[in-house]
This record gives sequence, structure tokens and C-alpha cells, in this order.
Amino acid sequence: MSPADDANDLTDDLANDLPDKVALVTGSAKRVGASLVRALHARGFRVIVHYRSAAAEARTLVDELNAARPDSAKACCADFMQNDEVEKLAEESVACFGRVDLLVHNASAFFPTPVAEATETQWEELMTSNAKAPLFLSKALAGELARRKGCIINLVDIYAERPMRNYSIYCMAKSALRSMTLSLARELAPDVRVNAIAPGAILWPENENLARQEKVLAQTPLERAGSVEDLIGALLFLACEAPFITGQILTVDGGRSLSW
Ligand SMILES: NC(=O)c1ccc[n+]([C@@H]2O[C@H](COP(=O)([O-])OP(=O)(O)OC[C@H]3O[C@@H](n4cnc5c(N)ncnc54)[C@H](OP(=O)(O)O)[C@@H]3O)[C@@H](O)[C@H]2O)c1
Repeated sequence: MSPADDANDLTDDLANDLPDKVALVTGSAKRVGASLVRALHARGFRVIVHYRSAAAEARTLVDELNAARPDSAKACCADFMQNDEVEKLAEESVACFGRVDLLVHNASAFFPTPVAEATETQWEELMTSNAKAPLFLSKALAGELARRKGCIINLVDIYAERPMRNYSIYCMAKSALRSMTLSLARELAPDVRVNAIAPGAILWPENENLARQEKVLAQTPLERAGSVEDLIGALLFLACEAPFITGQILTVDGGRSLSW
């Protein structure tokens, strides 16, 4: 069999197995995560909606998806700040449908920490949600993902490389997640692919002011904010159509990181 046949077989496997495949997306009851879950579900995945406090939104989303396709969505609660909850989420996720093929680290705390006022509590929250929990959830699911020849996709940020003023801890945490992408791509190969998406401005934070939005758009060559559809395209590509890609960070920012 030629290398081309091997590659075709692998692509076929990814497509043919899809009805059985299960995706866990952290922090996915609302905003970007909910859109990623809907897109994966529409693509044929069964989905696990992880949430911390957004229980009502998680329930509504799961009901919507199960109405479209029975027994295709479940919700799991975990607060990554609580000891043992990451481990428990891993166990519950495998128990949901008996397998996990795709792990998307989307959950994230995001708030400013001007260095003069930064606290250890802020450090714990930002580093735990953006870096520590992804590492230990990946560790807990590594065996399962390897059995399934699965993959991990990390939501990082363009600010991981060129930090945003007054957000040092968030940027450090996303840098750690970026670095984890490269480390685990080596360590979990050949069975598990590990990639990341680095979004620019996609969904503005709920309290973002207009002047800052205008400034960001002025720095963006494609002259618009991204949409969740832009992230979905990247996610589906990395999850379903990229069997020979691992250790890559796909930037989805309208070119902003080229020019500011
Ligand atoms: N929005 C953008 O334009 C943009 C730009 C660059 C990068 N990103 C990245 O893309 C991802 C999605 O963005 P987003 O704006 O949709 O995120 P988000 O709304 O800020 O956060 C997503 C979820 O993370 C969960 N979360 C936070 N702390 C947690 C903890 N300690 N334990 C468990 N869950 C926790 C929350 O769940 P509950 O609500 O259930 O508490 C929240 O709904 C994030 O990783 C973000 O950094 C987004």
C-alpha cells in the first residue's frame, strides 16, 4: 500500500467513524464554546458540554441538541478551582458515552491584572483555568484519547505572544497553554494530535468599551472582528481534516498580529 493510500485511509477513518465520536468542550454552555459544540454536533459528534456556573444555559443547549438527535449530548459540571474536579470531569466524560475522541480546552478566566495590584488569588484563577486545568485534564484523558487516536485542541490567544497591557497574568497563562500545545504534541504522538487556535477579537468581552473595539478594528488588516464561524472553520479543520498536522497554532485574527 502506498503512502497516499495510507493517508486516504486515515481521512476515511476520521469521516466514517464520526457518528460514534465524542467531543468534550470545556466552558461550553455559552458564547464561543456553545458555538463550537453546536458545530461539532452538526458535524456528527456526540458532545459533552462542560460548565462551571452556567447550569441553565448548559441544560438548554443539551436539550436543543438532543431534540435534534436523541442521546447525542450531555452536560458535566466542574469548577477547575476545586481540587479533584478536573479528575472527576475526566471520569464522568468517559462515562457519558463510553469514549472521548476530541478534547477542546475552551474554558478560560479573563480579566485585567495591572501588576501593581495583582494578587495571588488572581494568579490562581487565571493560571488554573487557562493552563493548569488543561494540562491535568489532558493527562487524565490521555490514555482514552490515545485508544481513540483522538486529538486535543487548545483555545489560546494572539496575546500569548504579544501581550496586552495590564493583562500580564492572562497572557502568561495563555503562553503556558501555547507551550503545552507544542510539548504534548511531541509527548502524546503518535496516537494523539495536539493543536491550538489563537483567536484575535471574535466575541467582545461582555464589558468591552466601544473605543477599544474601534482601536482593535483599526489594527486589523481584514477590517472586521472575527466571527465564531471563523473559529468553527479552524476547529473542524484541525479536528476532522488534518490527520498529519500536530503541534501547530492556527491564528484566526484577520491579520491583526501582523500589524500591531
Ligand atoms: N472571545 C474572544 O474574542 C476570544 C479572543 C481570544 C481568545 N479567546 C479564547 O477562546 C475561548 C472562548 O472564549 P469566550 O470569550 O467564549 O470565553 P469566556 O466566555 O470568557 O469563558 C468560557 C467559559 O469558561 C468557563 N470557566 C471560567 N473559569 C472556569 C473555572 N475555574 N472552571 C471551570 N470553567 C471555567 C466559564 O464557564 P461558566 O460560565 O459555566 O462558569 C465560561 O463560560 C477562551 O479560551 C478564550 O480565552 C476568545
